[in-house]
Amino acid sequence: MPTVVVAGGQWGDEGKGKIVAYLALHDKPHIIARAGVGPNAGHTVYYQNQKLGLRQIPCGFVYEQARLLIGPGVLINPEVLLKEVELTNTRNRLGVDRQCAIIEPQHIEADRSSVHLRGKIGTTGTGCGPANMARVARQAKLAKDVSELEPFLTDVPLEINRALRENKLVLVEGSQGFGLSLYHGTYPYVTSKDTTASSFAADVGLGPTKIDEVLLVFKAYVSRVGGGPFPTEIPPQEAERLGIVEYATVTGRRRRIGTFDFDLAKRSTMINGATQIAITCVDRLFKDAAGVREWDGLPDDAKKFVERVESETGVPVTLISTGTNINDIIDRREKG
Ligand code: IMP
Ligand code: MG
Repeated sequence: MPTVVVAGGQWGDEGKGKIVAYLALHDKPHIIARAGVGPNAGHTVYYQNQKLGLRQIPCGFVYEQARLLIGPGVLINPEVLLKEVELTNTRNRLGVDRQCAIIEPQHIEADRSSVHLRGKIGTTGTGCGPANMARVARQAKLAKDVSELEPFLTDVPLEINRALRENKLVLVEGSQGFGLSLYHGTYPYVTSKDTTASSFAADVGLGPTKIDEVLLVFKAYVSRVGGGPFPTEIPPQEAERLGIVEYATVTGRRRRIGTFDFDLAKRSTMINGATQIAITCVDRLFKDAAGVREWDGLPDDAKKFVERVESETGVPVTLISTGTNINDIIDRREKG
C-alpha cells in the first residue's frame, strides 16, 4: 500500500503523533509529509526519553531514513519551524514547499487581539486564521519569499508523485480533527480550513486516485479545547475521577473531556472515507490495558469497546495504542 493518509476523527489531539511515529518506524516510508492547517497543531511524540510537541515537522522524523516534507497547503511560522529543525536535527532531510503561506507577526497579533477569534471561538492564538485570510485575499507572503527558508525549498507535490511512480511508501500526516473542519465541523467553532483526508491529500499535492488507505485516529474518549458544542462532555470533576486530565500541547489550556461519541465517529468515518481506524489512549480508559501488545491480552471491556467501534462504523480497528511508548501498540493489520 503506497499511500496512507492519517487523519483525526474527533476535535484534534487524538494521538496522531504517536500513531504516525509508530507507522514511520514500523513501515519505513520513503516520504513523510505534513498536511493540515499549520503550527496551531501540537503533535506529541516521545523520542529518546523526551516528550516533544511538534507543530511543524512531521512526527515521523523518528524514522531517520525518511525524507520529511511540508506540503503547500500548510502554513509556516519560520521561527517555530527553525526551532524544531534544531530540536529534531532534521536540517539535511526536511523540504518545505515553495508555496507554503507564511504566518507573520501581524497575523498572530490579529488572532490574539480579536474578541471574536480568541474570545468567542477560543483559537490557539498562533495566527493561523488571519494568515489563511491573507492567503484567500491573495496577499500572503510565501515560503519562497523568506530567505531563512531558502535551504529547505522544494516542490513537494513533484517529490511525492515521483516517489509513488517508483512504488515507494508515502505517509501523509494530517493535523487537527474532523470536528474542527471549516466545512464539516461545528461551525463557527472550527479552525480556518477543512481538516479531512481529502484536504490533507490536496495539501501535499496528491490527487484523490492516489490515496490507498485513510487511517482515521480516535481517542478512546473525546477531548476538545476552545469553545463549541460537545454532546458527550462530562464535568471536569468526573474526568478527574476517571484519571483523564489533559492540557493542550500548544496553548497549555485544560482540555474539555467527554465519553466516546459514536455518532461523531460514524460521520467522521464516512466523510474521511476511512479504510482503517486507530484507537489511542485505551490504557487511560481501561487501566488493565496498559502496555498490552497483543489482542488476547486486552481486558474484555476494552475488547467489547473496540468491537463496538468496528460494528458502528463498519471499518476495521487495525491499531490500538496502549501507552505513550511508540511500541505500546496492538497492530492487527497483518492478521486482517
Ligand atoms: P485556530 O485553529 O487556532 O484558529 O483555533 C480554532 C479552534 O480549533 C479552537 O477551538 C482551537 O482550540 C482548535 N484547534 C486548532 N488546532 C487544534 C489542534 O491541533 N488540536 C486541538 N484543537 C485545535
Ligand atoms: Mg495536539
